[in-house]
Amino acid sequence: MSFSPSCVLVTGGAGFIGSNYLLKVVPQYPETDFVNLDLLTYAGNLASLGSIESADNYQFEKGDVADSEFVSELFRRYDFDAVVHFAAESHVDRSILDPSAFVRTNVTGTLALLQACLHAWNDSFENRLFHHISTDEVFGSLGKTGVFTHDTPYSPRSPYAASKAAADHLVRSFGETYGLPFVLTNTTNNYGPFQFPEKLIPLVISNAMRGLEIPIYGKGENVRDWIHVEDHCAALDLVLRRGTEGSTYLIGGSQEVNNLDLVHALLEELDLQTSRPAGTSKSLIRFVADRPGHDFRYALDSSGTESELGWAPVHDIQSGLAMTVKWYLENKAWLAGVRDESYKEYYSKQYGSR
Ligand code: NAD
Ligand code: DAU
Repeated sequence: MSFSPSCVLVTGGAGFIGSNYLLKVVPQYPETDFVNLDLLTYAGNLASLGSIESADNYQFEKGDVADSEFVSELFRRYDFDAVVHFAAESHVDRSILDPSAFVRTNVTGTLALLQACLHAWNDSFENRLFHHISTDEVFGSLGKTGVFTHDTPYSPRSPYAASKAAADHLVRSFGETYGLPFVLTNTTNNYGPFQFPEKLIPLVISNAMRGLEIPIYGKGENVRDWIHVEDHCAALDLVLRRGTEGSTYLIGGSQEVNNLDLVHALLEELDLQTSRPAGTSKSLIRFVADRPGHDFRYALDSSGTESELGWAPVHDIQSGLAMTVKWYLENKAWLAGVRDESYKEYYSKQYGSR
């Protein structure tokens, strides 16, 4: 399939991955209009999009994906031929503190978008596509070996993962029942610029920069597969334009590391780049109570995506982490801007009692 959309609705484009995606595609495809629909929750930040905010082919719309009337009205105002759906509540720890927002945004919000597409595209599904962005967490937790494949049954274990699994099922059900054209991507842990400092990598960098304790859940033995957000966005672009309708693409980084080794590597890099004596920042590490239901390991088999789309990640974890530390050190104002009162409230709820 080759698809060149003319007007793309990007939901959640002020968040971490959505903003990196827009920063790539808006300048790359000047003939395509991109409309960014984002509620600007604590995780959404227009400061991440400064370099494209005045581009002729970019428009921002503030709104809630779960507000079906608002979404329908947006579809009346714009002639969207593609939707790239990033908007979500995305942090596992917050889903443990309060799952309800996850069901509203991730499930009801996805349903509202699917229904709006069905309605707006009822003349023809030709040259229309709904691209749903999902996670490897829908598959559950791996032991020390093995990888998630297309055949792995869903087994979500956190409220976040359960809400993403429900959304994935809805997307596929609209494909089966109504013939809605879709592609679905599941990816693993992203890292890079503009990530909110509640997730492990930016949290470690942000705390170490300020000399604050660095919380490691349990013994730090859990394993994640890390992908640089630029590699993920490159794959997403290929999936939208060249992917096979009705297909699922697994997008992994093939860079597995356990949390303690990852944090050590990050802190060594931070000491190096800030000219602190080697080992200074490691003294900030504190082992704290484990995350309830903490998935042990994730890993994805991306070989199908690589062979079908000719994609492969280009960033290795060592240089990717060095670039990321450098970015946060050079963008202290962005980081300070997102650590507002609501961040402090969340932080004390999450870590205060540990
Ligand atoms: P994020 O939390 O950084 O950003 C989410 C964005 O969605 C924010 O801009 C927020 O304002 C917006 N949003 C939240 N609720 C909304 C609503 N009701 N209406 C409109 N906008 C709303 O998330 P992210 O890390 O960029 O993740 C993007 C997508 O990728 C999510 O669907 C997530 O599940 C998925 N994903 C993320 C990762 C990762 O490592 N970050 C990995 C796999 C999959
Ligand atoms: O795998 C994809 C998923 O990756 C995405 O779907 C989620 O949106 C994204 O948040 C991420 O989920 P994780 O739970 O893996 O990411 P997080 O950065 O929260 O945690 C990474 C690992 O680090 C995990 O094993 C928990 C651990 N951790 C995390 C934090 C915030 C700590 O040890 N200490 C911490 O303070």
